[in-house]
Amino acid sequence: MEYGIKSGSANSLRSACIVVGVHEGRKLTPSAQVLDEASGGQISQILKRGDLEGKCGQTLLLPILPGITAERVLLVGLGHARELDLKGWKKAHAEAAGALAERGAGDAAFCLLEAAPRGMEADEALRLAVLAIDERSYRFDPFLRDKKPPQPALKRVNFVTGRKDMHDLEEALRAAEAIASGIRLTKDLANMPGNVCTPSYLADEARRLASLYPSIHAEILDQSAMEHLGMGALLAVAKGSVQPPRFIAMEYRQGPEGGKPVVLVGKGVTFDSGGISLKPGEKMDEMKYDMSGAATVLGVFAACAEMRLAVNLVGLIPTVENMPSGGAAKPGDIVTSMSGQTIEILNTDAEGRLILCDALTYAERYKPEAVIDMATLTGACVVALARVPSGLLGNHRPLVQSLLKAGEKSGDRAWELPLWDDYQDLLKSNFADMANIGGREGGAITAASFLARFTKAYHWAHLDIAGTAWNSGDKKGATGRPVPLVMTWLMDRATQSL
Ligand code: BES
Ligand code: MN
Ligand code: ZN
Repeated sequence: MEYGIKSGSANSLRSACIVVGVHEGRKLTPSAQVLDEASGGQISQILKRGDLEGKCGQTLLLPILPGITAERVLLVGLGHARELDLKGWKKAHAEAAGALAERGAGDAAFCLLEAAPRGMEADEALRLAVLAIDERSYRFDPFLRDKKPPQPALKRVNFVTGRKDMHDLEEALRAAEAIASGIRLTKDLANMPGNVCTPSYLADEARRLASLYPSIHAEILDQSAMEHLGMGALLAVAKGSVQPPRFIAMEYRQGPEGGKPVVLVGKGVTFDSGGISLKPGEKMDEMKYDMSGAATVLGVFAACAEMRLAVNLVGLIPTVENMPSGGAAKPGDIVTSMSGQTIEILNTDAEGRLILCDALTYAERYKPEAVIDMATLTGACVVALARVPSGLLGNHRPLVQSLLKAGEKSGDRAWELPLWDDYQDLLKSNFADMANIGGREGGAITAASFLARFTKAYHWAHLDIAGTAWNSGDKKGATGRPVPLVMTWLMDRATQSL
């Protein structure tokens, strides 16, 4: 999709379709009023017939109207103006994009910014609109022999503004497009099947980004490099697979010179069979998504480089395939992590924390400002929070608070779970410094408590994205979360430190 900003009056815009808003109770937005007047009251007449009440997300496509230069008009319900919130704003844009895709309008002029939710800044409203439209037009079809005839339609969206200072909006649009393309990359990688998307594939992807963007550097550590570093926990997970593990370290330093970096760590289990503690068969295919944290790191790097965001970033991706075999780790095995702490592996399916703990120790060398890990870590997190927010735990209040805020602002929400010392007892092992599981209760918390033992040297937060990174059922597919949350957080930091 291409996006642009246009200024002008609704009745004289040239476009295959002009999109205007109607509030609940058939109240026209200013641009809708302009069209209504130019067409001699046609729109109010159609509304009087009862074809559209203005409920949020309703759409109604009108053919040519006299006195209007656009070829079609799409009316979009926005609900009560006072009640329009972030969710409704996104929904209205998604539904409009959906209606346009079906009807074959090649380009559209959206005149909805004038009706953005109260208190929402223009650049924010624009960003959410772009992400909602992009989301609706996303397809993953590299494996379809007969690709659907490219959805005829919508190739270009222009956002119409009456404002004189279009420069700010242009810039906000470039940023929004960069985030949208980062999200598409995250989704593409996550949707890729496990036989294609292996640890080596993710490493190649990091190299590709580094060659595409001179601001990104990528270093790939192979098995022997990891052995030298003493990453015994990560290597224990990798042992059962014929796919060799990789450790990806990326850097993007466009922030203040010498400034401490933010380190993003993404769980990159390209397929999680459970290992010797084999998972049941039902929905096991979805464990190709167990690298969604890694895909998020790659998407965020692409977005930052694309918009040249002024931040210092490090991305770490420990990536393995978790498989059962004669060479696989077994319940009862004891391994030594890079930190020197020993771990008794009581369940080989709790593998995410084993690869993350070594990455979190590796992160120390960057003397980070903050470390944020993203991981499809526990089914227990989905039980606790369903598929609405990501789970959030951390050892530094301001960091956790700022992430919660970025979640609210982007509509990609997180919810905090406690990370009290009390939980540490649950990780006791009879034979090693700790066990890798904490029993049935509080699984998302004990998993984070395990990670907390490796993050004492810096401010750290953990996003458990097991319930948010993909949709199950007939809408099965990657969501691109938590890219919007992380990008919003990074962008707010970049402007603060200027
Ligand atoms: N990748 C899974 C977590 C997961 C499961 C995410 C289902 C989304 C849906 C993780 O590696 C795992 O298997 N966790 C175990 C931990 C348990 C063995 C302590 C789990 O959640 O069951
Ligand atoms: Mn597992
Ligand atoms: Zn896993």
